[in-house]
Amino acid sequence: MSIHTIIIGTGSHLPDSVVTNKDLEGRVNTTDEWIRSRTGIHQRYIANDHETNSYLATQSARKALDMAGVRPQDLDLIIVSTMTPDMPMPSVACLVQNELGAKKAGAFDLQATCSGFLYGLSVADKFIRDNRRMKILVIGSEVLSRRTNWEDRSTCVLFGDGAGAVVLTGTKEDRGILSSHLHADGSLGDLLTIRGLGTAHPELSEILEKGWQYIEMQGREVFKCAVKALESVAWEALEANGWTGDDVDLLISHQANIRILNLLGERLGLSKEKIFINIHKYGNTSAASIPIALDEANRKGILVSGLHILLVAFGGGFTWGSVAMRW
Ligand code: COA
Repeated sequence: MSIHTIIIGTGSHLPDSVVTNKDLEGRVNTTDEWIRSRTGIHQRYIANDHETNSYLATQSARKALDMAGVRPQDLDLIIVSTMTPDMPMPSVACLVQNELGAKKAGAFDLQATCSGFLYGLSVADKFIRDNRRMKILVIGSEVLSRRTNWEDRSTCVLFGDGAGAVVLTGTKEDRGILSSHLHADGSLGDLLTIRGLGTAHPELSEILEKGWQYIEMQGREVFKCAVKALESVAWEALEANGWTGDDVDLLISHQANIRILNLLGERLGLSKEKIFINIHKYGNTSAASIPIALDEANRKGILVSGLHILLVAFGGGFTWGSVAMRW
């Protein structure tokens, strides 16, 4: 009898403040109309000073634990997928572990940009298939607003802050995670990057002068790569499970651009109702976008027993991947 990993609790947390497209019209040369039609975004949540990455992550974790009926002290492992940690050390995962009082849990951060949550799910799945009694918290949490150049209209309209979390454990039942596929292509890393604040460029003055603390993106190129990679990894997942497009009940993709989601849906032959979309409310929240969407779908009662869900993501690095599951 094989062991499957199941999600037994979901949670998400958004900052208090909303910034609308209209608000951005006053900051850069853009319009609400351009942002809506080119990206599908209407607004995004932006963290205030006290809303650190670890704070958002911890709040989302508490909600997921609450739903799962799991006490923090019963967690075995905490994985936080993020590229915007509070600081290089300690990790966000350790800050969350301390806040929750998850005394016996191991904790580490995982950096795979917008695909980070699916990388985290995939790692957790391997642990649980070895020991089905394990309880693992996987969080995707980002404060991208602090890495956004608010004078660059081509990027500042895209991103938002937030966190989402899931609690995982094992079951012998025929449901849960069915497959995961992870990919990367470092040769295209320059198309989407934050150059500074790592150890390659230790001079802070140089970083600030060149604006290397901010996200830089060749949007059009990234768009093309994203569509291609997402489509290919989706087909890979379908094939691995002996599914056709018709077998997918719900596609939850990383929310980067509504045009990417629509194109992907078309290429997979999915009707509009099968494509989960919440980018209009949150913008691109990187590693947080899929767990926020999962939590939203779960709390709306969309995730009914037996539902075939396909999760796909693409991001800087480049990284991309999929997780297929039966709810
Ligand atoms: N408001 C108004 N005009 C803007 C603008 C804004 N916020 N941002 C860019 N423009 C302008 C550009 O300057 C350009 O003007 P030009 O034709 O005079 O040079 C024009 O709009 C078109 O720019 P382009 O970059 O080609 O637009 P696009 O249709 O590709 O949309 C993105 C830009 C960023 C929305 C889109 O490329 C995208 O979503 N990329 C992928 C993001 C992604 O997938 N990320 C995944 C990993 S997180």
